[in-house]
Amino acid sequence: MSDISKPDKNMSAVIAPCEPDPLADSAECLFERPRDSCSIVILGATGDLTARKLMPALFNLYQHGGLPKPFAVVGCGRTRLDTRRFREKMKAEVDRAFHPGPDRWEAFAANLYYQPLSFDDPASFENLSRYLTELDYTHSLAGNRIFYFALPPSLYKQAAQLLGRAGLGREHLDNLGWSRLVVEKPFGRDLQSATDLDRGIHQYFGEHQIFRIDHYLAKETVQNILMFRFANAIFEPIWNRRYIDHVSIVAAETLGIENRADYYEQAGVLRDMFQNHMMQLLALIAMEPPSAFDAERVRDEKTKTHRCLRPFPVDRLSDYLVLGQYGPGMQDGATMPAYRDEPGVRPDSMMPTFAMMKLFIDNWRWQGVPFFLTSGKRLSRKLTRISIRFKDVPHSMFRRTLGGTITANQLVLGIFPDEKIVLTFQTKTPGVKVKLRPVTMNFNYYQDQAGPTLDAYEKVLQDCMLGDQMLFWRQDGVEACWSFLTPILEGCEICRDRTEMLHTYATGTWGPPAGGKLGPGILPP
Ligand code: BG6
Repeated sequence: MSDISKPDKNMSAVIAPCEPDPLADSAECLFERPRDSCSIVILGATGDLTARKLMPALFNLYQHGGLPKPFAVVGCGRTRLDTRRFREKMKAEVDRAFHPGPDRWEAFAANLYYQPLSFDDPASFENLSRYLTELDYTHSLAGNRIFYFALPPSLYKQAAQLLGRAGLGREHLDNLGWSRLVVEKPFGRDLQSATDLDRGIHQYFGEHQIFRIDHYLAKETVQNILMFRFANAIFEPIWNRRYIDHVSIVAAETLGIENRADYYEQAGVLRDMFQNHMMQLLALIAMEPPSAFDAERVRDEKTKTHRCLRPFPVDRLSDYLVLGQYGPGMQDGATMPAYRDEPGVRPDSMMPTFAMMKLFIDNWRWQGVPFFLTSGKRLSRKLTRISIRFKDVPHSMFRRTLGGTITANQLVLGIFPDEKIVLTFQTKTPGVKVKLRPVTMNFNYYQDQAGPTLDAYEKVLQDCMLGDQMLFWRQDGVEACWSFLTPILEGCEICRDRTEMLHTYATGTWGPPAGGKLGPGILPP
């Protein structure tokens, strides 16, 4: 019998013994400590991502024994800093998240270094290479390196190539160990630019070295979708067109664009949320069972699903796609500006901040079943969830007694903030009269939880150190999704009637009412 809790033999990890940690709530500390020591080189170390996500994640991993021994974090950026000032700056950032005691911080900070880097200067990358070799030697780091791109996407290709030219993509030669590249989304802005970027990176790095992040995949409740589907025998037989009427995947946010106008004005909701997170959620729900819980087998099945996406009839876009842009409105008692009044946004911007899409998967399992994907900013509340609506009963023996229709069964996989699985079904209402009522069976994901969990960035950093690509995009999947989305994006961008396609919705609502005409709306009944 298979046992999914057994660690993979090929994974370079050991379960770290629980180090006494006054900050850890649970005695059952089960963080996996990567066995290979390494340097984590952050390109763009003075930026926002490093401050808000990466450094707190690294610190927390350190606290819980989730980093190898020894390790080094090398911050690189254009800013002229020295290691001492870099450590001070990072302390201020980590303080915001954790308030570590001085001893804990000092012990962690002793592993932080800074090396200035010009992203267009080959000599600067050669300096970095020398610096890392020296650090390997003085700190017994075994020549393993992670290069984390916390950079503007426009610099990805150039930075990968300069790393490569400085010999930093090479593995297992001389005193080198492995070399891995972590790339944040977006991976290109359409099919052409994504393949071009990939070709550029592949000049010096093999596919096994490239870790393309999608932080949704690292969410506990998203990882759970595979377990739910494939570690239970009762769901798969009904997980198809015979029993499922439609599927709705929603990622609603209350946040606006948060000082990211430069990026968002280029991306909009389709590139920001659909090309990555929504497509991953869709694949996890729709994919065939992989033959093994292994990164390649799982990603094979996801890509096969993405390749089955039915192309949109671009001349009838509005039958399949509703776009919106937030107007002003109230949120949490405060008046919020319209998207067009956000700093840095063009006053006549046509960039969508909301989209609802109806799509079909052309394969045997899903033929004819609509999938509704919805995501938007400044909506009524934060809500990420997947609802599977089953078909109506084929014949109601209660029709004469009860009249009306019987509400179909529904299964809701709550991703955030309701981390729950809820099944709705009909029962008899207690009492003398024959009446039906829909009731729910609820599972709270953190029920009976033992031990700590990893936040999304802790998880991706750790998996990269372990060399496990399960939760990262593979390039064929990226390209399959761009093949589907690029004609839609082009269709929207050249559409003469863009003003008609783009509906304004008030901040704090559930998006434009036109969404309701396309499908079941955001909220399940
Ligand atoms: C990011 C997008 O990838 O995901 C953001 O760039 C979005 O625009 C965020 O706000 C949503 O993530 P989460 O985890 O808060 O649902």
